[in-house]
Amino acid sequence: MKTNYFITGDTINEIKKLPNAAIDLICTDPPYNLGKDYGNNIDWKQWHEYEKFTLEWLTESKRILRDTGSIYVFMGVKFISRLFLMFQELGFHFNGWITWHYTQGMGRIKGFSPRHEDILYFTKSDDFTFNLDDIRIPQKYFRTRNNMKGANPGDVWEFSHIHYSNPERVKHPTQKPEALIKRIILASSNINDTILDPFVGSGTTCVVANLLNRKWIGIDINPQYIKMSESRIKKERNLLDSFDPRENRKPKDLKEASINQGNLF
Ligand SMILES: C[S@@+](CC[C@H](N)C(=O)[O-])C[C@H]1O[C@@H](n2cnc3c(N)ncnc32)[C@H](O)[C@@H]1O
Repeated sequence: MKTNYFITGDTINEIKKLPNAAIDLICTDPPYNLGKDYGNNIDWKQWHEYEKFTLEWLTESKRILRDTGSIYVFMGVKFISRLFLMFQELGFHFNGWITWHYTQGMGRIKGFSPRHEDILYFTKSDDFTFNLDDIRIPQKYFRTRNNMKGANPGDVWEFSHIHYSNPERVKHPTQKPEALIKRIILASSNINDTILDPFVGSGTTCVVANLLNRKWIGIDINPQYIKMSESRIKKERNLLDSFDPRENRKPKDLKEASINQGNLF
């Protein structure tokens, strides 16, 4: 199967052209049906139409995933409960409901300001890739009973949005943080595995997959976004546009020999 390329087109048509059981990881952030302006498409359908649209690409996603494959889907609060049920109805295996917490965003004056989006994580079977050692974060405390190689990052992840002042920010209304995508890719794929993002937007999933030596395919209906993705892939750089603040923490020494003995690695 051809890899490392972007497809301009409607995912509903394009995903049908991909072969059975060829993809190791699907990581995607589809339109949430909240009326966003994506240039040549407005993210707004009647809810029953949006449900039909979701069912179509999710059914195809199951067909093209390998038996050991995983799928992560970002979703807003209005549809996430329905999406969770759709995954179950299609026979995917539940593995996690991840909350992406961010500290900046729109303010509300009658109600709580939204500060999270969620990511549903399902697998095709119970035999799936999960590389915990590749995504550990420093422990809070230095003590023997902790694994000093690092802690499991848990299912609440803090990454800031890519702010307008960030030099890596591009002209896409919903650009996702690269470090967040990196965690998903490292955990749920291996080098040379193939990753698909059927709603690739500014290309984030493919940019990170490329940096991590995975194969990739990205689809978007807007040709301007495909151009944007192509130029991001070509740009050489080592640093990601974001990080989890816990990655910089140093385990605290509890100053008590009985609890802090242990090797760092
Ligand atoms: C939430 S954005 C993805 C943002 C992306 N994660 C990023 O970091 O830039 C959703 C994308 O889906 C695209 N899209 C909407 N409907 C589509 C369809 N039927 N087929 C393919 N792409 C579609 C939009 O153009 C938009 O770029």
